[in-house]
Amino acid sequence: MNIDERLRLLEEMRDKARLGGGAERIETQHKKGKLTARERIDLLLDEGSFEEFDMFVVHRSTEFGLDKKRILGDGVITGYGTIEGRLVFIFSQDFTTFGGSLSEAYAEKICKIMDKAVEVGAPLIGLNDSGGARIQEGVVSLGGYADIFLRNTLASGVIPQISVILGPCAGGAVYSPAITDFIFMVDKTSYMYVTGPNVVKTVTHEVVDHQKLGGARIHASKSGVSHFACANEGEALTLVRKLLGFIPQNNLEDPPQVEPTDPPDRIDPELDEIVPEDPGKPYDIKEVIHRIVDDGDFLEVHQDYATNIVVGFARLGGRSVGIVGNQPAVLAGVLDISSSIKGARFVRFCDCFNIPLITFEDVPGFLPGTAQEHGGIIKQGAKLLYAYCEATVPKLTVITRKAYGGAYDVMSSKHVRGDINYAWPTAEIAVMGPKGAAEIIFRREIAESKDPEKTLEQYEREYREKFANPFKAAERGYIDDIIEPRNTRPRLIKALNMLENKRQSLPPKKHGNIPL
Ligand code: HXC
Repeated sequence: MNIDERLRLLEEMRDKARLGGGAERIETQHKKGKLTARERIDLLLDEGSFEEFDMFVVHRSTEFGLDKKRILGDGVITGYGTIEGRLVFIFSQDFTTFGGSLSEAYAEKICKIMDKAVEVGAPLIGLNDSGGARIQEGVVSLGGYADIFLRNTLASGVIPQISVILGPCAGGAVYSPAITDFIFMVDKTSYMYVTGPNVVKTVTHEVVDHQKLGGARIHASKSGVSHFACANEGEALTLVRKLLGFIPQNNLEDPPQVEPTDPPDRIDPELDEIVPEDPGKPYDIKEVIHRIVDDGDFLEVHQDYATNIVVGFARLGGRSVGIVGNQPAVLAGVLDISSSIKGARFVRFCDCFNIPLITFEDVPGFLPGTAQEHGGIIKQGAKLLYAYCEATVPKLTVITRKAYGGAYDVMSSKHVRGDINYAWPTAEIAVMGPKGAAEIIFRREIAESKDPEKTLEQYEREYREKFANPFKAAERGYIDDIIEPRNTRPRLIKALNMLENKRQSLPPKKHGNIPL
């Protein structure tokens, strides 16, 4: 064979590999409203940046006629490329080849790029669309999954890992995405569950379909497994690009900084009016966030899950920040099991990747009740406390209104190493709300009075005047300053700049024991 023939053969082989399971299966994929594995890579990465590995890998199985059925690439496309010029590693499962099912060779391809991603310190993105373990291969396929799970775990906190679910993701296969930092799902075409509708029916007699059991909407709102539910694949992949813009390449780097287009000294007089005079009235913490961050641009994570807390990414003066805000517009911003877990996971992600935390606090406390106590609010709430205590990134807090009880301590207080803690004049920092406090400490006086209601009101007012303000905390230095709401943006940006070189460490240990 001369060189021309060899080059022709190479091109032919490449064309064959690019066709995956063949034109017919590609058509079926499109008919389901799904893109192919290669089309997804093209959409996600910068144009022409993809460098593929292992295009010619095939499986080594001979059982069940597999020896006669070998498809180049074996059902997963792997390699590296760039997003906004920054290196990423990627695998994209090809449903047209053996239903995207995972073989030994397929797992080796994924492990190869995972190892490289960790060695060079770049994010890993997995595009999932697979029928799970390749059934004909048996235990070697299970072993392949475990090889991936181990790498997901070892890479956790070293490089950002993102999973995008674009089709089936079932059985043990769900545990790779579950270990990664963020899960994106697409409405109607993707689903995740440990056991599918048939098994559910056999075991529990429940009748449920794929979507109701593990579709994007369910995981984005009920289970919290998914962080982003997207209307279509294009939206999901665009959002992945956006998310990565806030995150550093690895744990040793700082997040990317951009030239701010929004003036760092911009004040916003409308913030002065945002907290209602009546402390029982709600307002939207997202409006506060939008008004303060650069260009009002806030990428919310877990938008539909535990909405009494708001978490997400934004920039302040061009620097990436992670924002956590109690949401007074939902359940008065109370901390419950789900919101504690949601907040804790986000705080820990930011801490892993050197992203400063900005906390907006308006929290009446932890949610009472048997459902919460029996569900373990003690250990679940402790997750958020632990996460804030452990975090060594710059931590800035703004108490906009209520900071009551244990929740005051938890939400990045000075006592858990909050760096800069500001309060708005509307802040109420106390052991509990004035009504509850008056009812307890003046119980006898109220009971013995001729007009208990009026007496309660009087004591409530007294307590509010004394404690439900930021001055008592300021007297102690528990907050660094009481600031005009309108100045929040410039004050936070100045503080962030001051904290740029913050260094804080934890005592040497193997790892902590976060209450799980
Ligand atoms: C081998 C598989 C496969 C698998 C699908 N295919 N899943 N081949 N191993 N796990 C093949 C099908 O035989 C078919 O091949 C092609 O992929 C497309 O599949 P269809 O069934 O035609 O597609 P669709 O109707 O869209 O249904 C998709 C599906 C279904 C719901 C995912 O294929 C399915 O139920 N697959 C099995 C899922 C499963 O039980 N997997 C094991 C889970 S346990 P042909 O040649 O006919 O087109 C697991 C353990 C992991 O994964 C443990 C980790 C610790």
